[in-house]
Amino acid sequence: MAGLIPQRFIDDLLNRTDIVEVVGSRVQLKKTGKNYSACCPFHQEKTPSFTVSPDKQFYYCFGCGAGGNALGFVMDHDHLDFPEAVEELAKRAGLEVQREDSRPGQKPRQPVDSPLYPLLSAAADFYRHALKSHPARQAAVDYLKGRGLSGVIARDFGLGFAPPGWDNLMKHLGGDSLQEKAMIDAGLLIENAEGRRYDRFRDRVMFPIRDSRGRVIAFGGRVLGDDKPKYLNSPETPVFHKGQELYGLYEARKNNRDLDEIMVVEGYMDVIALAQQGLRNAVATLGTATSEEHIKRLFRLVPNILFCFDGDQAGRKAAWRALEACLPSLQDGRRARFLFLPEGEDPDSLVRKEGPDAFRARISQQAQPLADYFFRHLMEEADPATLEGKAHLATLAAPLLDQLPGANLRALMRQRLGEITGLGSEMLGQLASAPTSDVPPTDFAPSHDDYSPSYPPYPGERDDWPAGQGRKQQGKKPWQDGDNWKGRKAGQRREPPSMPPPRSGAGAGVEPPTLSALRTLLHHPQLAQKVEDAGHFAAEDDTYTQLLVALLESLQKHPQQNSLQLIARWHGTEQGRLLRGLAEKEWLIRQDNLEQQFFDTITTLADRQRERSLEGLLRKARHSELSAEEKLRLRALLSRSEIPASPGPAGT
Ligand code: UTP
Ligand code: MN
Repeated sequence: MAGLIPQRFIDDLLNRTDIVEVVGSRVQLKKTGKNYSACCPFHQEKTPSFTVSPDKQFYYCFGCGAGGNALGFVMDHDHLDFPEAVEELAKRAGLEVQREDSRPGQKPRQPVDSPLYPLLSAAADFYRHALKSHPARQAAVDYLKGRGLSGVIARDFGLGFAPPGWDNLMKHLGGDSLQEKAMIDAGLLIENAEGRRYDRFRDRVMFPIRDSRGRVIAFGGRVLGDDKPKYLNSPETPVFHKGQELYGLYEARKNNRDLDEIMVVEGYMDVIALAQQGLRNAVATLGTATSEEHIKRLFRLVPNILFCFDGDQAGRKAAWRALEACLPSLQDGRRARFLFLPEGEDPDSLVRKEGPDAFRARISQQAQPLADYFFRHLMEEADPATLEGKAHLATLAAPLLDQLPGANLRALMRQRLGEITGLGSEMLGQLASAPTSDVPPTDFAPSHDDYSPSYPPYPGERDDWPAGQGRKQQGKKPWQDGDNWKGRKAGQRREPPSMPPPRSGAGAGVEPPTLSALRTLLHHPQLAQKVEDAGHFAAEDDTYTQLLVALLESLQKHPQQNSLQLIARWHGTEQGRLLRGLAEKEWLIRQDNLEQQFFDTITTLADRQRERSLEGLLRKARHSELSAEEKLRLRALLSRSEIPASPGPAGT
């Protein structure tokens, strides 16, 4: 993919685009009052519940919940990815899409192809060549052979070898400092604090990661032994967005353009070992949880997805997350299945142990349809033999089922839920509309879409899997870094509350004040300027508050952002869906005092934060001497503790 599309270009593009025109050219619209309506292009319906608002520049379907801005519409309707949709709208608006390169001093209008591609491709050549002829190659060759790989598969996947040493690649490709800088941008070199540059990948077997056009965009490198980290991956770069890519997708499609099913596995070696055994339809997420973006991409290519994760706790967790990611994409006619492997096995170990035929037989006999897995899993969570269990089960299941766009599948699964719980459809419908906090977690991070204005900093030498720690020991919670799902502790069960998509329509129940505050802020972004530094509330762990803080921080940094830009920033994530839903809801809910409520919520959060700091300091004071600075803070907190001063409108 070419360089970033600058946010200001997207803003400008959206400003020049009229959603009514964009939608109207694809769907027959009828004017109804202020808005336009039509039968929804995203689900089957006879009476129009699809609405387009020229004021808000938004569309929304009251039937299936699809909604968004002009860009989102073009993406979903025309099945385009984000940059393609931008191109499409830009063409319409007579604009040339701007790209920016991470290298300063480049001409502002980037040609479509990033200079990083040839560099990455040359690096892949170098690694491949080293596997064939470097004096130290034998260890790598033996390693790959030991894992059962043939030369043909090594060739098809472009496997290579990064020889031991600090500067093999740098010497081979480097020239001037500018070239080295580009190599740093491409993630091939690392520059340390003293400015010394060296090869990122050393003494590793190299797996080139290719985009759907076959261009090398990144690498994974595996140690030959048991050192840590086991795999080192390229950092996020202008051409590599880990959360979106699927390893092996290019190779699978190259082998067969006409795939019927794609198998999603966890690791590089799973993909390759399966291919070696003739199962050439496997792809792997790159150490991240399966996302809705991944699923959307796959369903654009094939009607069937088979998930096959490791037979361990992390793998089972991953399967449920994959199921959740599937729900919004499961139109009727699409199918997802889950194959659970015996404890301790991964696809690589199993297919080598039992051979391809047995593995195929296993798939056809044991893979569970999504609906079966869904109910089986929930019945483990909530025992349907008891009344309480039934109630809990229904509360867990109803909002998930509600996400299914496929009317038939949804109806059938609701029916099954009704059979299990004995609850009638009306009752279940009500449950679906009530906000719940019992649904398992969703990632909390802005998307890594290539228009996202901020990238995570290069992690440098440190890969996302800290050395010396097995993935199971890692304490980080997956929803904290939004990425590294394999890090969760085995056996850890409790999940933080997630964000149920906000419901439209009446009977939504009482919503949490932080949710209302989110909506108000989304519709009146300028309010952020009247709030003191939002970082104060960052310690809150409830998801709405976290998103509220993230929004406040983003707005305080870039005050000119409007609602659409905020939504665009989180596009493709769970947060994005929530924001999109919230943006819609104002159509239905008109309340006075929104602003007052907003500041009340902020005040409550600030109070809570203050109380917490106060408690912490008092507790500490009981055991040990406070530092001068802590005493000052304590005094300040205590002096405000009677009626805590509002952090609300600044200057009051
Ligand atoms: P696994 O730990 O399941 O490794 O990680 P694996 O694929 O079975 O590896 P082998 O068989 O020992 O070679 C699954 C995936 O998680 C990412 C990689 O994408 C890996 O393929 N991962 C794992 C990392 O990025 N870094 C690591 O240190 C470990
Ligand atoms: Mn493995």
